[in-house]
Order: sequence, then C-alpha cells, then structure tokens
Amino acid sequence: MKNLVKQAQQVLNKNWKDGFSVPSAKLYPFQWLWDSGFIAIGFAHYDMDKAEKEIATLLDAQWDNGFIPHIVFHTPSDTYFPGPEFHQSELHPLSSKKYKSTGMTQPPVTGFVLEEMYRISQDKNSTLAFIKSQIDKVFLNHEYFYKHRDPNNEGLVYIYHNWESGTDNSPIWDDIFATMNPPHYEFTRRDTTHVDAAERPTNREYDHYLHIINIAKEHNYSDEKIAELSPFLIQDPLFNTMLIKSNEALINLYEILGDNQDKIAQLKLWNQKAIGGMNTKLYHDELQVYTHFDVRNNRPIPFITSSSFAPIFANFVSQQRVENMLNIMLDKFGGEDKYLCASFDPTNERFDPKKYWRGPVWVNLNWMLYRGCRAYDYNTLAERIKKDTIEIVEKSGFYEYFDARKEIHISDKAGYGGGDFSWTAALLLDLIESDL
Ligand code: SER
Repeated sequence: MKNLVKQAQQVLNKNWKDGFSVPSAKLYPFQWLWDSGFIAIGFAHYDMDKAEKEIATLLDAQWDNGFIPHIVFHTPSDTYFPGPEFHQSELHPLSSKKYKSTGMTQPPVTGFVLEEMYRISQDKNSTLAFIKSQIDKVFLNHEYFYKHRDPNNEGLVYIYHNWESGTDNSPIWDDIFATMNPPHYEFTRRDTTHVDAAERPTNREYDHYLHIINIAKEHNYSDEKIAELSPFLIQDPLFNTMLIKSNEALINLYEILGDNQDKIAQLKLWNQKAIGGMNTKLYHDELQVYTHFDVRNNRPIPFITSSSFAPIFANFVSQQRVENMLNIMLDKFGGEDKYLCASFDPTNERFDPKKYWRGPVWVNLNWMLYRGCRAYDYNTLAERIKKDTIEIVEKSGFYEYFDARKEIHISDKAGYGGGDFSWTAALLLDLIESDL
C-alpha cells in the first residue's frame, strides 16, 4: 500500500502546473472544474498548500455572475480540441476578463471539497482561514444556479450540455441526440491521437456536442436563451446531488465560521426545495432509483447509471430507498465477475465496457458511492467498493477509467482513456486513508 501511495503522489506532483493541475497530460492540458475539486482532496493529505492553490485558482476564474466554467484555459495547447477559440467565453458580458474559459460548467464540487479539506487538515485554523477567504465565492456560485438554472422554480437546476454532466457520452443522451440533426462539422479531433478511438466518443457525437455550444454562442451564452432554445436541457441526479451536498457543506462551514445566519438560512431553503425535487421528480418509481429528466422533451430518461445511485452521497434518501437502490446495484452491477461500479447498467444492450461513460468504472463515482455506503451504514458494501477500487488501480495503473469485467484485468489491458490520471490518484489517496 505504501508503494501505491507514493505512486499516487507522483502522479499528482507530475500533473501540477504551478497553481493548478491538469487531469492528464496531453489529453486534458488545462484546468477542469470537478477534476480540480477531487485533486484538492488528494493534495490535502500531503500538501495542503497545493490543495488550497488548486481551489483558489479555480475560483479566481469565476465570472461576475457567480458562474464557474468547466475548463479554464491557462496556457495555450495544441493537444486538445475544442480550445478557447472555439468556446469564446468572452461572448458573455460577465465572463472573466482574466482567464479564457468555456461557457459551460461542471458538477458543483467546490462546496463539499472545502469541507473535505477541513476534515483532512492537520492545521484546522489555517485551513479555516483559507475557507473563509473563498467560501463566499462558492455561495455566489450556488446563487447563480438557483437564479439562472431553475426557471420553473423546482429546486432542481438544469444542465445544457452533456459535458456539463461530466458523464459525457453516457447512453442516457442517445435519445436526445436522436432528436437533433446537426451539420457535419469540419474539425480535427485531438483526443483520439492520445487514446484509442474505441475508448472515446464518436465523431458524430462530437457534431452534437459542438452544435449545442454553437446555439449557446449565437446567444452569447445567455442563460435565459439557453433555457428557451437548447435542444439539450436536463435535470441530472448526479449534478443536483452534488449541489445539495455542497449546500450542506457550506451550512456546516458557515456555522463553524459564525456570523453568517442569512446565508445559512438561504442555503437551508435551497436544500429543502432541492431535496423535495430530487425525491419526487428525479426518483423513478418503477426502476426504484434516481434517473435523469429530459426537460426539453418533458420525460424521464429510464436508464440506470452510476449517477442513479449517487444520491446516497448526500443525506436525503430514505432508508427504504437506499436498501432498494443498493440491492439493484448489487444485482445488476455487482456480480462476482465484476468490479463495482460500472457507469452504465451492464444488463442493458447499450452497455459498452470500454467506451468512456458507456460502461467503464470511474474512481470518482466509486469514491462517492463508498462515502454514501459509509454514511448509511452499509459497511460491507463500502468495504467492497474500496477494495475493488484499490484493486483495479493496483492491477491496471492510474487510468482514467477501467473495465468492470474482472477477467479483463487478468488477460488484457483493462485501464482506459488517459494515463496518470489525477483524480484517480487523488481519490485513491483518500480511500487508502479512510478507516474502513
Ligand atoms: N471531458 C471532455 C472531453 O473529453 C470535456 O469536458 O474533452
């Protein structure tokens, strides 16, 4: 285990670029929002200065309306497409004047990451001083979401692009893309020069991705226009769970800091509404798990993904539902021949064990599920998720994602996507340090 800790630290140190981290050299050569959050949790275990800098740099790129972009383009790079010239964040009147970025966001991790840093810290006073200097920016970010991403006042915020979900090419989006007919764009993929194309989205999928951005750009990334016109408009259980978890974290941290009663009251109101929305609109009675809701086409998306179980990461699921959800996870995703937890239902015909978010295991989701199982006292399952996660990394390396099928880890290459992947290293460090 000592060796694994050392290797994880080496990956993180290598990807550190003096102020922020890249998720993986070449494949992702900038700063990504949710990656940064998970990376900070890893750094917090052995280099709190870097953890703080990671988050401070990310929040420095916040827009004047509270929005935090999903990629901050710190330095030019020709190894990634689409870069800053395509995204053109400057179209939005309130975008950062200091950093080029995308005009979309990613799951709101920063709130709960600050709380994790506080939990891990050996010097609580110093970490609290850092949190005090940053926490209002995160509050503003949450205010942005509820003001601009919840037009029908349901407590559930929408995402307008599959890249905002973080689960880029999940089969859940297939039926939405089938309603669109974008042009065939001329562009040169860079990702498939670093990673086998079989492990990445298709070119036609990229047409859809670019098309949605073009619609947003035509309207200078106006939230109101996007809500009106984007063909992709989703309420995502993973995204909303993370926002609820981050609301909760901000409440806890403001209570420790003192003197913030108005903000605490506001956060509690947001969470009350959000939890109501999650437990009614995003819970699928027949499937007995949480599912995505397609706002544009006004229908639930009836597929089980690792995001369907993510709500156990926050504290709003009834014991009965947790019990059912975890039984479904074990039944469909957790056979003895499999590592937990595939990103998409392995019993569904759309499952693809190698292709990015269409099936492989991701360490960040495993980390959330592990924490959820611990919180609801499913310790045997928590232990299994931890053991599975450590084992896939030990056997196959610090990859971006992994095959769920155990036999592949013996007979073939079973780690996919980018190598020396930062959040795999960071969250492995946290899992190893966890007491169960
Ligand atoms: N993960 C996306 C990509 O593959 C962007 O967020 O490029």
